[in-house]
Amino acid sequence: MSDVLSVRGLNVTVRDTPLVSDVDLTVGPGERVGLIGESGSGKSLTALSILGLLPEDVLASGSVQLAGVDHDLIGADERRMSRVRGLQISMVFQEPMTALNPTMRIGDQLAEAMLIHHTRSGRGAARAAAAELLERVQLPADTLRAYPHQLSGGQRQRVVLAIALANDPALLICDEPTTALDVTVQALVLDLIVQGVVARSSALLFITHDLAVVATVCERVLVMYGGRVVESGPVGEVFTRPRHRYTEGLLAASDLETADRRLTTIPGNVPPAGQFPSGCVFRTRCAHATEICATQPPWTDGFACHHPAGAVDAPAAQDRPGDAHA
Ligand SMILES: Nc1ncnc2c1ncn2[C@@H]1O[C@H](COP(=O)(O)OP(=O)(O)OP(=O)(O)O)[C@@H](O)[C@H]1O
Ligand SMILES: [Mg+2]
Repeated sequence: MSDVLSVRGLNVTVRDTPLVSDVDLTVGPGERVGLIGESGSGKSLTALSILGLLPEDVLASGSVQLAGVDHDLIGADERRMSRVRGLQISMVFQEPMTALNPTMRIGDQLAEAMLIHHTRSGRGAARAAAAELLERVQLPADTLRAYPHQLSGGQRQRVVLAIALANDPALLICDEPTTALDVTVQALVLDLIVQGVVARSSALLFITHDLAVVATVCERVLVMYGGRVVESGPVGEVFTRPRHRYTEGLLAASDLETADRRLTTIPGNVPPAGQFPSGCVFRTRCAHATEICATQPPWTDGFACHHPAGAVDAPAAQDRPGDAHA
């Protein structure tokens, strides 16, 4: 089956400074894809480009195709994009209050989310459907009468999720949806996101810096650094046998129990936008970098690195016998 979402050669710039470069990304029907990377790697800008929600001075080029939509989403006017958003693609961001109207009861907001796109269904029917939506995110029926400020952060985010799933979107995009929530609530919201997309056969693009979350939620993962995708593949493969040195560093810095790695931070900091080196964007922080890394590494077998981890001739391979059998 063809992809629900297909992003090709996405470039995002602000006043000629590249923020996102040559990003290719696909999400298949019902597939759950994670997008990870440190702060400033370009994850949110990638999502906002897909949704047509970039600030005015930020420009996107390339191609974003959505199944069933006969025009490119890049460059589409707001009238067309507002039809796509909420109907074919919906989103959940970190801060639920930005998505909710503080002066409207939850029931009316849920009903409105459905009415906007199903104008033929009457108001009564919409309210009944609103109650059902709340049930799916495990909120009691009396939440319908509440205002957003009367709910906890976790409850608000569940309302936002209910709204996002209201019209059975082909694609749900979540950008750090649980980062602002405490750990116990996080697990529930993640569970509801997965249940919600699985029940509707919706595809999911899930953005986070939390590798453990990606490991539980996603089937496939893309690793971004310096505005570029540096590695991608099935979560089980990328997290147990990373190839790009940046992915290797991210895993070593996470507490994911994938291999017997010691917890070590990646040296140095993410450079500010526009100050990434030529060639491999990671080379100024990479212990394995040599002269060749000043040239752009070719994309091979799901990663772009001149000195991949796990390669037979990699110097570090002898130190970790588990990694040597590439
Ligand atoms: N409107 C803007 N104008 C100029 N630079 C921007 C703008 N928005 C984002 N940037 C820069 O682009 C880079 C990527 O930003 P982005 O928000 O996509 O990162 P991110 O991966 O989502 O990070 P985080 O994990 O912190 O959310 C950053 O260096 C950021 O400072
Ligand atoms: Mg972000």
